[in-house]
Amino acid sequence: MVRLKRLLYFFTHFALSVPFAITFLLDSPRIHPTYKMTLWRKITLGFIMFLNNIRIPSGSSFAGHLAMTLKILETPPDVKGDILECGTWKGASAANLSLVCKIVGRRLLVFDSFEGLPEGNPRDREARWYKKGDYKGAFDEVTTNIRKYGALDVCEFHKGWFHETLPSLNTPILLAWLDVDLEASLDICVKHIWPHLTDGGYIFTDECGGTDYVALFYSEKWWQRHFGRTPPGLIGAGTGLCLGNYYVGPWSDRADYPLQHAGTAGYTRKSMSGHWDYYPDEQSTKQ
Ligand SMILES: C[S@@+](CC[C@H](N)C(=O)[O-])C[C@H]1O[C@@H](n2cnc3c(N)ncnc32)[C@H](O)[C@@H]1O
Repeated sequence: MVRLKRLLYFFTHFALSVPFAITFLLDSPRIHPTYKMTLWRKITLGFIMFLNNIRIPSGSSFAGHLAMTLKILETPPDVKGDILECGTWKGASAANLSLVCKIVGRRLLVFDSFEGLPEGNPRDREARWYKKGDYKGAFDEVTTNIRKYGALDVCEFHKGWFHETLPSLNTPILLAWLDVDLEASLDICVKHIWPHLTDGGYIFTDECGGTDYVALFYSEKWWQRHFGRTPPGLIGAGTGLCLGNYYVGPWSDRADYPLQHAGTAGYTRKSMSGHWDYYPDEQSTKQ
């Protein structure tokens, strides 16, 4: 019964929300005129992204892809920066991001082991949910999917474990999309990408429902240790972006609320602040 309810909810929700998501998100007056995104082009792009997320096995929501698309389309072309994806699986989100990269003339850098997840570190609390090799998408499979449904010519692939490939990153990044599951992978990605993020740049993360996981973006110790600054915070922390979902949380209780699902993706920017600084008895620690 619960399964049937879930299925019914899933299909009704999608049928109702997809047209709203596409029009609401892509009908932004801030989309830069250079990209000549007529209403028809926006609707077509949104619909293709929705289809891609069904025809390529996907671990992320198309509404999250649309939210990133919006931010990329809103950025003027003279702002430098590549788009970067960490964690591609079969290439669903990469195919969608490649389509918007093609429109705006930016490169999509795709980082993945192409062997699935690494062995979990015992200190990584997310590692208990996965095993080595989960979410494996072989390189040929990924490139075939992107060639078929996206724009392979804008993609540059970096094959290997993040701790081996990300240190060689040497270009400005406008938007990074992290869909990497493990705490260890999030840690290494943010550490290496943050210094390359442009001033108005974005880091999106798919994992946003777990309050421990997103705590990285609020951890004073982590930001002080690695970047000597206060934390930037995360829009969508604990719930994801509000893109048509119903969720009262917490994530661990979702079995009792079968019709609820957290939203999708959260993001931070270099210019943001997620720092509590009201200690009336102490001197300010703000930097
Ligand atoms: C959930 S999947 C990505 C899903 C994909 N973004 C989508 O929308 O379908 C997670 C991916 O992260 C990759 N990954 C996670 N940690 C990694 C690491 N430390 N080094 C390289 N790849 C890693 C895995 O290989 C896998 O492809």
